[in-house]
Amino acid sequence: MKPLSHKRPASFDRFWFGAAYYPEHWDAATRKNDADRMAAAGFNLVRMGEFAWDRFEPEEGRYDFALFDETIARLGSRGVHTMFCTPTAAPPVWLTNRHPEILGMRPDDVPLQHGSRQHACVSSPLFREHSRRITRALAEHFSNNKFVVGWQTDNEFQCHFSGCHCANCQTAFREFLRGRYAGDIDALNRAWGTAFWAMTYRDFAEILTPKSDRPCYSNPSAQLDYYLFQDNRVTQFQHDQIAILRSTQPRWFVIHNGLFSHIDYRGQFTKDLDVLGYDSYPMFCDADWRPYSHAFWLDATRAWSGNFIVPEQQSGPGGQAPYFQDNPEPGEMRKLAYVSIARGADSLMFFRWRTCRFGAEEYWCGILDHDNVPRRQYAETQQIGAELRQLGPSLLGTHVHVDAAIAGADLVNIDAHQTLPYGLPGPGEVAGHIHAILYRHGYAVGLAHPTDDLTDVKLFVIPHWVVFDPSWVPALERWVRAGGTLVIGARTATRDLNNNVVAETIPGCLSELAGVTVEEYSRINTPAQRSKYLVMAGKKVLAELWCEIVAPAAGTQSLAKWQGRHFAGRTGVSRRKVGAGHVIYVGTYLNKPVMEWLLPSLVKQAGLKPLWPVPRGVEVVRRQDARKQLWFFINHNDKPVQFKTPDGKMAKLQRYGVTVVETGRAKISSVKAR
Ligand code: GAL
Ligand code: ZN
Repeated sequence: MKPLSHKRPASFDRFWFGAAYYPEHWDAATRKNDADRMAAAGFNLVRMGEFAWDRFEPEEGRYDFALFDETIARLGSRGVHTMFCTPTAAPPVWLTNRHPEILGMRPDDVPLQHGSRQHACVSSPLFREHSRRITRALAEHFSNNKFVVGWQTDNEFQCHFSGCHCANCQTAFREFLRGRYAGDIDALNRAWGTAFWAMTYRDFAEILTPKSDRPCYSNPSAQLDYYLFQDNRVTQFQHDQIAILRSTQPRWFVIHNGLFSHIDYRGQFTKDLDVLGYDSYPMFCDADWRPYSHAFWLDATRAWSGNFIVPEQQSGPGGQAPYFQDNPEPGEMRKLAYVSIARGADSLMFFRWRTCRFGAEEYWCGILDHDNVPRRQYAETQQIGAELRQLGPSLLGTHVHVDAAIAGADLVNIDAHQTLPYGLPGPGEVAGHIHAILYRHGYAVGLAHPTDDLTDVKLFVIPHWVVFDPSWVPALERWVRAGGTLVIGARTATRDLNNNVVAETIPGCLSELAGVTVEEYSRINTPAQRSKYLVMAGKKVLAELWCEIVAPAAGTQSLAKWQGRHFAGRTGVSRRKVGAGHVIYVGTYLNKPVMEWLLPSLVKQAGLKPLWPVPRGVEVVRRQDARKQLWFFINHNDKPVQFKTPDGKMAKLQRYGVTVVETGRAKISSVKAR
């Protein structure tokens, strides 16, 4: 398998299109037309079984797959294949009643219970045994079923509950730490700084999972390790299942649907999979912010491992006890699906085929309504299905082109921020604002990890990554030398991999590359008092959240100076030429006003150009491989728009309109992009 990279295409042999399907929710009469209707909608895949353990195994050791055998065969005969799921997100009541010790435990020591889902703990050796058992039973049963083409592991690990404190987690956490510190308790004491508040441990057996309310602030290094342990336990649990699936039937692909907290989707978790999945529900956002957040989350997903599958794409409004979302308007569901495809989905399935009449999600609406009458959502699905028959094959093997990238996909930074947030926005939130600004200006924006392939990327912004691994610096420097523009935000590289403050003058391992040291810093709690401004070429911006006095080394230029208080006249933003590129260090938070103020100089420095000239509110994304480019144009305006596309034709897009234009290498070089 190719290494994880934001440019890695999915390894599917075709574009899979379909929906999540729950035959266990419906009687035979209601299911009668499903296969025909799916085939007519252009489906080639359904997802089945993730919440049906009680059907597969009504009592321990007695299996019954009849409903699924019959359903898989019927759909298969109409060209609709099945991705089956391991059902471990919803263990049956006989299991948890007989073995309550497999239930998860909240930080307040209240155990979880049967009655919703995700209540069993993946650290429990006994639950893992049952997980392997049911996985093996299913895998063996379906191993020669030609219609079963792949698997999804579990369902959305860590979605409802992460941070378990059960007895199994206590043991597993200690085991994890023993491995991490090679059995050396003194190494742990040093890494955690246990000299502080008399925390020294003599043995791993003395360690408890950290609880920040017992009675107050817990050790940030212990807390970070506890977060990383979450990843470790889920990864091991999933690994068990994948080993069984792969050894039973090597032709199966395996995916998982994310993305949730404390899982390193750039680590072993995803290396074990063929393709990572992202469940996309843009209707969680209000209409104005929806295009921005949708694009951001897709780009953030791609940064972990490359192109992905969307196993759940919103088709109707979502309704859960506390909320009920807007119904997507006519054309909007199709538009949302195309945004996902444009930004890296190499397969897509709607959630769900038919809205269920009962259970916690009786108003989480699907393609067909409760009454099984096909209406506009079904018609739109048919349209997309027909379009994908054409488009699907050309998408395979392409990646999303990115000119301007923001650092993303780093679990340690996301988690380290959570251990000590200081009321400041986290790496994801800041990246979201920067992304929105670059997106609005029409640049080909994306996210990428600093160790990823940055060829083609012209601008790379590291928002405020407190932890910076020194081993990442050489490749980054090579990229800058080759002409890249690197922007480093305040507070970057201030802590080590154990979440302790670095011994060197900050920005630690980036100090040399940036050509600066930081003389003094302060949190800004009330920007309107004792205000400090950054001034560049006569334009000034008020610093909020944070300010630093930057000391440029010889050869580093002072790009913006401070105005106000004792910072006056000192450097706030610096620029250093390195080879053919530049490193810009910004001694404040890269929030919206600062980014808008800085952007013109960054654009000039990096030579950024909008991907294609279009009217405001039209999203442009380009997917490409060595031979061709696929240009996606998506109209987010309420009114129709008209513009010229790269094939020289005029496109008229209605509200929610989408068009995809293909150009070949020879052709595109003759078209000037503004
Ligand atoms: C996802 C989940 C589905 C369903 C859906 C709607 O998070 O995987 O099972 O719950 O959301 O809430
Ligand atoms: Zn647990």
